[in-house]
Parts: sequence; C-alpha cells; structure tokens
Amino acid sequence: MANTLLILPGDGIGPEVMAEVRRVIDWFGARGLAFDVSEDLVGGCSYDAHGTPLTDAAMETAQAVDAVLLGAVGGPKWEDLDFADKPERGLLRLRKEMDLFANLRPAQCFDALADFSSLKRDLVAGLDMMIVRELTSGVYFGEPRGVSHDGNERVGINTHRYTESEIARVARAAFDLARKRDNRVCSMEKRNVMEAGILWKDVVEEVHAAEYPDVELTHMLADAGGMQIVRAPKQFDVILTDNLFGDMLSDVAAMLTGSLGMLPSASLGAPMENGRPKALYEPVHGSAPDIAGQGKANPIACILSFAMALRYSFDAGDEAAMLEGAIEDVLEQGTRTGDLMGAEGGTPVSTSEMGDAILAALDARAA
Ligand code: IPM
Ligand code: MG
Repeated sequence: MANTLLILPGDGIGPEVMAEVRRVIDWFGARGLAFDVSEDLVGGCSYDAHGTPLTDAAMETAQAVDAVLLGAVGGPKWEDLDFADKPERGLLRLRKEMDLFANLRPAQCFDALADFSSLKRDLVAGLDMMIVRELTSGVYFGEPRGVSHDGNERVGINTHRYTESEIARVARAAFDLARKRDNRVCSMEKRNVMEAGILWKDVVEEVHAAEYPDVELTHMLADAGGMQIVRAPKQFDVILTDNLFGDMLSDVAAMLTGSLGMLPSASLGAPMENGRPKALYEPVHGSAPDIAGQGKANPIACILSFAMALRYSFDAGDEAAMLEGAIEDVLEQGTRTGDLMGAEGGTPVSTSEMGDAILAALDARAA
C-alpha cells in the first residue's frame, strides 16, 4: 500500500520547521519506508495567493491522502481580514470537513529538559500524559453565532452544543488510547454551570459502563482540572475534554514540558476505506511571527508530529520510536534551539542545525 502525505507548511515558522521534517521523511524513504508527498498552501499564504485560506483543490487532496502534515497558520499580516478569510479558518475547515473529532495532545517531559519547565523538576520529570480534545464541535462550531445588535448595543454570540454521539465517539477514542497506556481516563467539563457538561459526564459514564469497564474513569470540573495539571501533573494518564477546555488545558500542559516548541499533535477521524483513520498532524505551537524567517525555530514539535503520523497512520510504531529516541539523544547531547536555552546559557543551534543533529542521531541508531 502506498503511503500518501500532504504537506501544508503554512505561515510564519511553518515552512522552516517543515523543511526539516522533509529531510526526516527522505531519511526514512532512503531506508525502505517511502512516502508519496504532495505540498500545498494553507493559511495566510494561501489567502495571498488565492484569496482564501484553503482552496477547494487543497481540501480535496487532504481528503484523499493517508495523512496531512501541517506547519502553522496565521500572523499579524492577516489579523484584520474578515473572519471568514482569516488564516485560522483554513485549519478549522480541514478539521471540520475531514471530521477529525479526536485531537491527541501528548505532554511528555524529556528528562534532559525537565529543568526548563515552569514547575519544579520532580513534579514534571517522567511526565507522560495525553489530552484527548474533542475537535469538531462545541463552541468552535455551534450555531447560532455572530455579532448582532440587541436594541442599541452589540451582542456577541457563540453556542456550546454537543450531541450524544459526538461525546460518545471522542470518549471511545480516549478509552481506546488509555488501554494502550496506563488505563486511566479523567474526563473534564463544567457540569456545575453547563447543561452540556451534565450530558457530557452522563454519556462518558454510559460508554464506560457499556464498553470499557476495565478502564479507570474519574471526573473533574475543568477549572479544578486546570489547577491539578499545574499542581500535580503526573496524576494524569489520559484527560478527555471538549474543544474549548481542551484548547486551554493543552496549552497549560504544554508549558509543563519546558517549551511549546516540543509538542506534537494528531487529529484523527473515522477509518477510511483502506482502514487508516482520516488524519492531520501538526505541532501545538503557532506560527511565531516574531522569529519567523530567522532560522531560530525549534523543528522538534513538527518532527514529533511526523512521528505520530508514523505511529497512527502508517502502522510504523518501531520507526516512530526510533525517531523519538533520536530526538531524545540529541537533547541528551545538549543540542538546543533558542527556546530551550536555560539559565546556564550557551549557543543555540539553528533550525537546520537541529535537523542535522537529528539526522545524525538517526544514522547512529540505524548503524
Ligand atoms: C490550537 C490553536 C487553534 C485552536 C487555532 C489556531 C484556531 O490554538 O490548535 O490549539 O484554537 O484550536
Ligand atoms: Mg490552542
């Protein structure tokens, strides 16, 4: 079976970090794991070229390939565009039309980076949690929405809406993942103030009782959950939550690991005809316009996103582990981009030098 991949580097540091991923893809290609790669535009660069943050043609390709790998979208240049033209709409269209309902955001702390965390080393060393964020519904997409008038003042409206089946399918994704990990799920919502939160908890409990009684299930209010993530993060295995809470909690969890430049994500949908899930992989970090084009960006989050693609789309778990191992080697050796420079100082490497180091570590592991 051919392995097809659509690469959407996007804006800001996206193209720079993606260039390093291309080298990693070629490295595996030269060793028998080949990919049929196509490339297109998303975000502000697509708006500049085509007047839309994602063309129908790019959307069609995304639907047809095994996996999409995205860099980042957005930047100050496009901030004043109409809502529908904004770079972020390109990403949200991909998520929605591919129906990528389960967003997997691991927060793992590499031992070599434990001192970069905003928390004390012993709270984060060895941390390995996974946030499963619902990605295609909730307040991001609910109707009605918009800014209108009520008498003589403006009203902003967004709707938080979840159907049972939307909750059930993302809950299953979380329980399935937990079974391959430490077998524990903590579900987070705000049932104390939201009816949709009451339904969320009920449905999660029903799916659990009927299909996953072997998995340990707990519940937390999302605000208390946020507090626990920074108080004692290692208590968590899998956290299951909705689109908006997941957006916030995953950024909070990201900082525990030392740098946003380290964190990958996978967004998965239903299986396609060939058995592989609809899938999009992207780093959690954004387009970082302040450092774009300077060769300073850390390519690791994007490369780790490719590792997730190897694992979840291409059934290449051994290769994924090898790539993650190579990154660990490089960090152990002390190779650091600017975002990973601690109080002890030193000279940061460039984006492409980090790529060089990772390829060398892969060579060493393959030897
Ligand atoms: C994320 C981002 C996106 C989101 C933006 C860029 C639309 O913050 O993936 O977490 O809010 O989902
Ligand atoms: Mg976010």
